[in-house]
Amino acid sequence: MKSLSQEHRKFHPQSEFVANAKIQGMEAYKEEYEKSIEDPQAYWETVADELHWFSKWDQVLDSSKAPYYNWFVNGKTNISYNCLDRNVNAGKGDKVAFHWEGEPGDSKSLTYSELLESVCLFANVLKSFGVQKGDRIALYLPMIPELVVAVLACARIGAVHTVIFAGFSSDSIQDRIIDSKARMVITADGGYRRGKILELKKIVDEGIENCPTISEVLVVKRGGDTSIDCPMQSDRDFWYEERAESCDADCPAVPLDSEDLLFLLYTSGTTGKPKGIMHSTGGYQVFSYATSKYVFDLNDNDMYWCTADVGWITGHTYIIYGILQNGASQLIYEGAPNFPDPGRFWNLIEQYKVSIFYTAPTAIRAFMKWGDNWLEGKDLSSLRLLGSVGEPINPEAWMWYHEKVGSEKCPIVDTWWQTETGGHLLTPLPGAIPTKPGSATVPFFGIEPLILTEEGAETDVGILAIKNPWPGMLRGIYGDPELYEATYWSKWGGRYYFPGDGARIDEDGYYWILGRVDDVVNVSGHRIGTAELESIFVEHSSIAEAAVIGIKHEIKGQGLLAFITAIEGKKVDEALKVELVQLVDKKIGKFARPERIVFASDLPKTRSGKIMRRLLRSIAEGQELGNITTLSDPSIVDEIQNQFKNI
Ligand code: WT7
Repeated sequence: MKSLSQEHRKFHPQSEFVANAKIQGMEAYKEEYEKSIEDPQAYWETVADELHWFSKWDQVLDSSKAPYYNWFVNGKTNISYNCLDRNVNAGKGDKVAFHWEGEPGDSKSLTYSELLESVCLFANVLKSFGVQKGDRIALYLPMIPELVVAVLACARIGAVHTVIFAGFSSDSIQDRIIDSKARMVITADGGYRRGKILELKKIVDEGIENCPTISEVLVVKRGGDTSIDCPMQSDRDFWYEERAESCDADCPAVPLDSEDLLFLLYTSGTTGKPKGIMHSTGGYQVFSYATSKYVFDLNDNDMYWCTADVGWITGHTYIIYGILQNGASQLIYEGAPNFPDPGRFWNLIEQYKVSIFYTAPTAIRAFMKWGDNWLEGKDLSSLRLLGSVGEPINPEAWMWYHEKVGSEKCPIVDTWWQTETGGHLLTPLPGAIPTKPGSATVPFFGIEPLILTEEGAETDVGILAIKNPWPGMLRGIYGDPELYEATYWSKWGGRYYFPGDGARIDEDGYYWILGRVDDVVNVSGHRIGTAELESIFVEHSSIAEAAVIGIKHEIKGQGLLAFITAIEGKKVDEALKVELVQLVDKKIGKFARPERIVFASDLPKTRSGKIMRRLLRSIAEGQELGNITTLSDPSIVDEIQNQFKNI
């Protein structure tokens, strides 16, 4: 693994920011951090006490069945209660929970009282179908208010939501529904993306053709738009709005056990199939609340905006659960950053006076490419804090964000975490930790990271490990405990959590994430397993073998490159390439398309038949290849190199 060139610039939070921050200065952070590490259970108990519990836990952490950890054992709570009722009861009923803006420019605002009412009504609609605690409900919705409402409605009655990002294909919907055995899908007639209507209901119809567990499809009308074609099947499909007419808006939150399943969220790994990451109620509630509070330093007059989609973990934790539990106001935007033009985000910040802005490096790099003129004349003075998430941020993008968006006054929190971790593990606290461009800096309270060698010895540059359990950690992979143990707990004999990232620690104890060490590629902050794509390609009747690797990409961070061998005698041409791309669209979604497909008569393999992906990566990046004499057929390297030059 290569070490990052040393980046020595350091940026201190301005004294004005520090003066109002929740954690003021490095010393305050250190003191609190040390306390949290000395006695993590006492620390998390204090945080949990800030929230509502129907009845308290009798043990903070039960590690006796490690790596299956239980938090707040026997506690009874409800996260929708903590997001809604608790804030309304505290006098925040008339406070805006969110302003929503659709891509075409339509908009809506909901106060905490109104959101509570909408969630109760939605929960009663679910109950009218007989939905019960523990039932899995698949959500396939655009970024509209009903997505937030539906998620909270599930949580309110103990139904387990599994949100499927609306960019996924019908085949992906099918895979997730079959694996989760969901009984209902909630979708919409459509949604907007880059000026076009996505007909979501039609995609759902295709996706559930072979899903016998689905008994009903609940369809939300997107903003009353009547032009969207939405076929309805009379015995199975129901319009949400019609069903809601006969329901009332009174639905008390159900007390749930801390370890009751809250949601499943599917993510790619090194196996050919996405895994259903399990998050449970009590621990996730406490962790999403605490990280939101301290990392975004949320105040009563903030206007927060996270540009992620609720279909990913960022939207779960830092649009819905963490932010609403803190009683903050936020902006939710449905569409693309460059619709109708690349000034859209800056217009929104100006219009809604956004004070905290949380986005992804890939978006920042896209804005850099579109040009600074889109920011000129925009009033971004409401901003006081910026955030980054999803992939390592290159120092150049960091500096642009700092100068052009943050006017050199806003701290940037570069937050490292994963679907599995539930919330931030490495991150600056904005009033306490000086930042360095490209570093996720230091651990959050209660988190003990280590950098280890394969063998488990401590080192400066190596593999990131997490020593102790934390409340927001995943509870398993749905239906596959062996895979859970093998993926996250087998590397160092079950002693530490293995996130799959490489990292370096510098002289100040700052962490620098170096990217994945497994066969996972991070495209625009979306995780794609190379094995998943490979298995899609070999399904094609002309294809014998495929190897997919990640390569550096200017905007997306990483892009995908596919090396493919056709079955002897099959025609290899542009038409075949098009078919393979279409196959990716159908099986996963357009966002997983490879940048390039390279055909070769064979792939470089060791004598024992293992494909040498590392060598393919070197060829793609034009690096020295080193010793290739151990290959079963070294001549194949020349062929692939020539292929490469020709494209
Ligand atoms: C992987 C997790 C975290 C929510 C969005 C992605 C990479 C994430 C950072 C960061 C460097 C990062 C890691 C991680 N990653 N944030 N700030 N700096 N790398 O969630 O799909 O579960 O992917 O994203 O490689 O393992 P995810």
